[in-house]
Amino acid sequence: MAGQRSCHVRRLSLLISVIFIIAGCSVTQIPGKKQFNYLEEQADKTLKSIPSDTETAIPRSISSGMKEWRYVTYKDWTSGFWPGTLWYLYEATKKDSWKFEADKFSMLLTPLSRMEAIDHDLGFMVFSSFGNGYRLTKNPEYKEIILRTADTLATLYNPNVGTILSWPRPVQNMEWPQHNTIMDNMINLELLFWASKNGGDKKLYDIAVSHAATTMKNHFRSDYTSYHVVVYERNTGKKIKGGTHQGYADESMWARGQAWAIYGYTMVYRETKDLRFLDFAQKVTDVYLERLPSDLIPYWDFNDPSIPDAPRDASAAAITASALLELSTLVTDNSKAKIYRDKAEMMLKELSSDRYLSKDKNSAFLLHSTGHKPNGSEIDASIIYADYYYIEALLRLEKLEKGQNIYNPL
Ligand code: GLY
Repeated sequence: MAGQRSCHVRRLSLLISVIFIIAGCSVTQIPGKKQFNYLEEQADKTLKSIPSDTETAIPRSISSGMKEWRYVTYKDWTSGFWPGTLWYLYEATKKDSWKFEADKFSMLLTPLSRMEAIDHDLGFMVFSSFGNGYRLTKNPEYKEIILRTADTLATLYNPNVGTILSWPRPVQNMEWPQHNTIMDNMINLELLFWASKNGGDKKLYDIAVSHAATTMKNHFRSDYTSYHVVVYERNTGKKIKGGTHQGYADESMWARGQAWAIYGYTMVYRETKDLRFLDFAQKVTDVYLERLPSDLIPYWDFNDPSIPDAPRDASAAAITASALLELSTLVTDNSKAKIYRDKAEMMLKELSSDRYLSKDKNSAFLLHSTGHKPNGSEIDASIIYADYYYIEALLRLEKLEKGQNIYNPL
C-alpha cells in the first residue's frame, strides 16, 4: 500500500513538473496572435505617454532601468520607426485606431520630402513610415512624398565614387570633405528601388545598384565581415580607408553593421535578381551566424574583449531575424533555406522570452539594445528600431506560416 502510494506521489510530481516545464517553455514560444496583443498593450502605453504639445514627439529610446521615452523630431534618423511600428500594428490587427495613429505620426515626417538632404537616412525615415503606409493603404499622398524623398536622397550620390554620401558634414575621422559611406546606407537603397519601379526616375535604380556593388567591393574584409565606414577620395573614387564609427575598433565586426549588410544584400537581391547579390547575402550571413553566441543574440560588437560581460544588441538580432526570414525564401538550396528559417525562429524565440521582453519594465517591446557604445549612449537600452524590426519579423513569420509572400499585406 505504502509502495503504491509513493508511486502515485512520484507520478503526480512528474505530471506537475511536466506542466511546469510546458508552462515555462511557453515563455519562449513565438506566440503569434498572443504576441501581437502584448505589442498592442505596450504601444498603447507609449501612445498615452507621448507629449501632445511639442514637435519632439517621436519615441526613440528608453535608457536601461528607466520608463520614460526619449523623444525626437522628424529630423532624427530614427523618426520613421515609430510610425512604421504603428503601420505594422495596423497590418497585424486591421484596427483603424492604429491606422489613424500611424498616419498621424507619419505625417510629421512630411517636411523631409521638401527640404535638402540632411543625410542618407532618408530611406530609413520615409520608407519605414510612408513606405509601409503606402503598401497598406495605397494613399497617393504618401506615394508623392516617397517619390520626392527618393529624388532628394539621390542628390547625395557621387558618380566618381559610385555610392551615396552618408554624412554630408564633418564627422570625426571622416576626412571631410572627402566622401564617406557607412554600411547602414544599404537599407536606404530600398527607397530608390521602389521609387524607380513606381513612377520615379529609372536612374534611381542604377544608383542603388552602383551603391550596392561598390560597397560589396570596398566595405568587406576577406572573411566577409564589414567595415562600418569607408572613406573615399571624392574626386577620384579611390578608397582611402575602412574603419568604424559605432563599433569597437576599425577592424572589428560591429553587430548592427553586419546586420545591415545581411538585410541590405538580401533586399538588393530581391529587387535586382542579380545572383551576385544573393551569393554575397549568404556570405555575410554565414560569418555572422558562425560567430554568434549560443543564444543567437549578438554582443554589440563581436570583437569586444570584455565578452561575455559586454552588452548585447537585441536590435541586431531583430534586424537579422527579419532578413533571414526573407533570405530563406530566396535561396534555392533547400537545406540552406531551412537553416536560415530555423535560425530566424530561434532568434525570435529568444527575443520573445522574459530575458528580452520589456513587459512592465517599460513600454517598449524589447530590452537590451546598444545604440552607440563608443559615444556612451543607448547602452543596454530599449530602442525603437529593435521594436520595429521585431514586429516586422513576427509579421513575416506569420505570413510564411500562412504560405503568403512576406511583402504583401497580411
Ligand atoms: N544607422 C545608425 C545605427 O545603426 O545605429
